[in-house]
Amino acid sequence: MKQDPSIYDGLSLNYAEKRYTGKVDSYIKYIFTTRRSILTGFFKEVLNKIEKPSVFEIGCADGVLARFLRQQFPEQIGHFVGVDISSEMIKLALSARIVDADFYLRDQLNPDFEASDVVMEVGVHTGDWSSEIAYWRQHLKPDGFLIKSVAGRQSIYARLKLYDRDYYQDYSSYREYEKIFNQDFDIIATKSYGIFIPKIWRWPALARPIQMFFDQVLVWFPELYHERVYLLKKR
Ligand SMILES: C[S@@+](CC[C@H](N)C(=O)[O-])C[C@H]1O[C@@H](n2cnc3c(N)ncnc32)[C@H](O)[C@@H]1O
Repeated sequence: MKQDPSIYDGLSLNYAEKRYTGKVDSYIKYIFTTRRSILTGFFKEVLNKIEKPSVFEIGCADGVLARFLRQQFPEQIGHFVGVDISSEMIKLALSARIVDADFYLRDQLNPDFEASDVVMEVGVHTGDWSSEIAYWRQHLKPDGFLIKSVAGRQSIYARLKLYDRDYYQDYSSYREYEKIFNQDFDIIATKSYGIFIPKIWRWPALARPIQMFFDQVLVWFPELYHERVYLLKKR
C-alpha cells in the first residue's frame, strides 16, 4: 500500500514538536524518541567506520532527524540529502536552513543522483519491498550502510490496535523482514522496542520506566515488540 502524501501534508505543522519535544508522555512519543535514540547509536557505529559519511534520508519529513543528527555529531557528517513524498514537509525542511543539507520531493530527484555512504529510512511504511530495495541500492555506495525501521505484524500493538488498518496487510514478522534483508545486506545490528502494555500511558511518569523495563526483559519474545531498527551493510 502506498502512503497518501496529503496525510503528511496535513500533519506537517508541528510535526517534530508533537513527536519529539518535551516530556515523553504517550506510547507514540515513546516509539518516536526511542527509534531516534537507536538510530543515533547506530550512527555512532557508522562514524567509527566511515569518516564524514554522506547521508540520504528517505521520508525526511520536516528535516527533524537531519537537524538532530547535525546537533549530535557536529562536523562529523558530510552532505545530507532528504527526500519525502509530502511537499509541505519538504517546504518546512528547506525553510529550516539546516547546514549542508538539501531536500527534494522524492519523485523530483534525478535517478542519477550521486550515491551516499548511509541511507536511512525510519518511521516510513514500506509496501513494495522489491522496488524500495532497488531504490536503496541506487542511492547507496558499495560498502554503504542502511538504517531501516520496521513494524512487526505479530506485535501486541499491531494485533490490538492496527489489525483493521489497510497498511497492516503490508506488515510482516521480523523473521520475514530478515529473509528479505538477507538477500542483499548483512545484518550488523538490530534493536527492538515498544512492547505494548494497554493503558499504562495514562500515567506517563510511571509508564516510562515500566515500558523500558519490559522492553529490556522480554527479549525471548522478539515478535511481540512493535518496532525494530536494523543496521544493514550492503553486500
Ligand atoms: C512518520 S514520518 C517519519 C519521519 C522521520 N523519518 C521520523 O522518523 O521522524 C513518515 C514520513 O515519511 C514520508 N513518506 C511516507 N512514505 C514515503 C515514501 N514512500 N517515500 C518517501 N517518503 C515517504 C511521509 O510523508 C512522512 O513525512
